[in-house]
Amino acid sequence: MEKKRENWGSKTGFILAAAGSAIGLGNIWRFPYVVGENGGAAFIILYLLCIAIIGLPVLLGEVLIGRTAQRNPVGSFRALTKLKFWPYVGGMGIAAGFIILSYYAVVAGWSFGYIFEAIAGSFFEFNTPDAAANHFNSLTGNVYWIVGMLAVFMSLTMLIVYFGVQKGIERGSKIMMPALFILLIIVMIRGITMEGGSEGLSFLFEPDWSKITPLTFLEALGQGFFTLSLGMGAMMTYGSYMSVKDSVPSSSLQIVFLDTLIALIAGVAIFTAVFSTGMNPSEGPGLIFHTLPVVFTKMTSGFLFSIIFFILLSIAALTSTISLMEVITAYYVDERKWKRHKVVVVFGSLTFLFGIPSALSFNLLSNFTIFGFTIFDLLIYITANIMLPLGGLLIAIFIGYVWGLDKVVVELKKGAEKLFERSHWRVNVWKVLIKYFAPVLIFIVLLHSTGILRKILNIFN
Ligand code: PFF
Repeated sequence: MEKKRENWGSKTGFILAAAGSAIGLGNIWRFPYVVGENGGAAFIILYLLCIAIIGLPVLLGEVLIGRTAQRNPVGSFRALTKLKFWPYVGGMGIAAGFIILSYYAVVAGWSFGYIFEAIAGSFFEFNTPDAAANHFNSLTGNVYWIVGMLAVFMSLTMLIVYFGVQKGIERGSKIMMPALFILLIIVMIRGITMEGGSEGLSFLFEPDWSKITPLTFLEALGQGFFTLSLGMGAMMTYGSYMSVKDSVPSSSLQIVFLDTLIALIAGVAIFTAVFSTGMNPSEGPGLIFHTLPVVFTKMTSGFLFSIIFFILLSIAALTSTISLMEVITAYYVDERKWKRHKVVVVFGSLTFLFGIPSALSFNLLSNFTIFGFTIFDLLIYITANIMLPLGGLLIAIFIGYVWGLDKVVVELKKGAEKLFERSHWRVNVWKVLIKYFAPVLIFIVLLHSTGILRKILNIFN
């Protein structure tokens, strides 16, 4: 007899794990610097719009596919359609998961390493972002440090996934997510209470519409995909461990709410601190590793807050890396009948090896470029700008045109009977969004990602 497939112990367990996947470096590292580069509040408004009209509908769709099929992404499509093409879409998601994990764990490793930098008090040796940047460059320039941190972070990820869905991922998320909330709120309160911090709040919440261009809209949508872990089957895989007794719409809404809340809190925490210490908000990807350490040196009790901050960043990253690892694991367990332990050891090690070229992009291979990208940048570009939006587009098309919206609604109703009793209009709105809005808008992003849109826009300029 086949062993029973694993599942979540509770609805809360699922929500915390899925929110853990969504909340990660994308919220705390990427969101603030993208906001900073794109002029603040106006970008945030566009981003919220994208999350509401595309992110939430696609997330709901992904979770629903997983829950209905109770399978990994490849098996899910295979269970829901006879068409041979669709399981390949699941396969692309698993490949994307493998690639993302390989570079994501590199950045997560920096964050983990910075906990020890903070404890050692290294930040207090410099008082300009340039000095902090030099320190950052000397760490990432050290092959042993960067590959070592990658190894440590992959080991942590493997350890949790090794213990399975309930005992590993769910238990880990139930401890780590509340800790993350508390630590982030502490850091935010510190930021708000700093003198001059309110300038950071104006930057975040008073829109300057002149900063908005068509490309800003596309940037906002791309960020929405990455931050909600969409387009590659992570949410499908987590949804596949969900019970039909639990509501997909309400869980999805809670996940999106938590993810957005954390991004905004991270934004408040970081920009109040950055403005009150007179730092530059549009520093780019270095914002956290160059600017923040200096901010900590200028803040009362900065030593303590710097440690707390990098611990919380590492926790956020870890709950995301385990979801990436789980996508690969679910596939090999379901489809190839491997033991979970074997998948974790084999693919964890392979991901580590595959991550080494990304780690070396900051030192030995820094001059090695393909189409002008380092290996690290190229992998980010291929996954975040091409594979995820393409996956999201195909998932929306699958739901809107292949699976059959009538069947979809039958599945959606399970566990959400109350919602259906109360009002039907919300379901109709979702249908329109997933069938028409999402595919068209995502298609536009893809054109942009591949550079075509940029060329078209240039013709009109
Ligand atoms: N959502 C994660 C973040 O914002 O950091 C990144 C991510 C995790 C993307 C898992 C995709 C994924 F499957």
